Amino acid sequence: MNTTRILGIETSCDETAMAVVEDGQRILSNVVASSQQFHSRYGGVVPDIAARMHAEVISQVLEQALAEAGCAADELDAIAVTRGPGLPGALIVGLSFAKGLALSLDRPLIGVDHLAAHLYAGVLAQPDLSPPYVGLVASGGHTLVCVAHEEQRFELLGETKDDAVGEAFDKVAKLLGLGYPGGPAIDRISSKGNPAAIAFPRAHSKEALDFSFSGLKTAVYNHVQRRLVQGSRLKVEGEGLEPRTSNLEPQEVADIAASFQEAAVDMLIQRALRACQRTGLVSLVIGGGVAANRRLRERLTEAAAAKKIRVVIPSLELCVDNGAMVGGLGYELLRKGRVDPLSLTVDSTLCLNA
Ligand code: KG4
Ligand code: ZN
Repeated sequence: MNTTRILGIETSCDETAMAVVEDGQRILSNVVASSQQFHSRYGGVVPDIAARMHAEVISQVLEQALAEAGCAADELDAIAVTRGPGLPGALIVGLSFAKGLALSLDRPLIGVDHLAAHLYAGVLAQPDLSPPYVGLVASGGHTLVCVAHEEQRFELLGETKDDAVGEAFDKVAKLLGLGYPGGPAIDRISSKGNPAAIAFPRAHSKEALDFSFSGLKTAVYNHVQRRLVQGSRLKVEGEGLEPRTSNLEPQEVADIAASFQEAAVDMLIQRALRACQRTGLVSLVIGGGVAANRRLRERLTEAAAAKKIRVVIPSLELCVDNGAMVGGLGYELLRKGRVDPLSLTVDSTLCLNA
């Protein structure tokens, strides 16, 4: 029986990731090289460094992805690559590499939307999942809720009006001195904290399917400022979201992190379930780096069960940026004949074609 092997290439941010995926479902390899360590001293991703690191490691990542899959380059049937959204320089490295491969191997090139790929991780997790379903994308650059229809058609229901939720995790982690990347650090430390310690505000409205996280972020900042002044009676040093936090007790840092996380998770769950209720759809897929958050996974599982909604939560490696979701979605597009010319360009603002 003939199988179709697709190489998925993902370089939209600080992960150089590649995977070989068979028939849009079987992940033969899934390799990720992260440049996070080079960004940590700056407290966030530095676009130039990200692009340079992609260029440095991309050939090695390919070799490893092929070796782990036990697949020679000429056994690949197509090359799928993220063309947006993301950092333009980082995307260009991945797309140019993909074009080189497609040209030299004489294989089709398939440009993929990173956000659609995050939702395709739900199909990798649950092969019988079929549209329409509600999708929640919660990542470092995006927070949105949509309906995924057949043929990769998406209907945007709501999105963030300010910060993406992952960005809020990263900024609060920086404020609390937890380092970069902040999401996993907040997730870890929160398990030692009390999520009800501080009642941070939730941007709730009865109707909205939109999100807002900047008020929550500012509330955490103001709380920390107040506690520092009370604790030390000294003028707080630092500017903006970077005051000195060293004189907060570790338990207090854990409580602040857990309380922030709880508020962020509440907002995500509320909008996602509301979207299911509004549309009458009973399947929900979550994707993006923040979908790796343990508290979100736990609480959403419970809340969805109570409402008889089937929630699909991909494994941790498929939530954060990876090549498998790109290769998987590439297969679906290839079957529909949606291949691209070598003149394909990146689109750093692509958003589910919605
Ligand atoms: O999808 P992703 O890997 O890259 C983008 O497309 O942006 O998401 C990265 C974001 C970062 O903001 C990171 O802090 C957050 O996902 N993240 C988490 C967790 N793991 C990654 N946030 C909360 N809890 C986590 N366990
Ligand atoms: Zn992502």
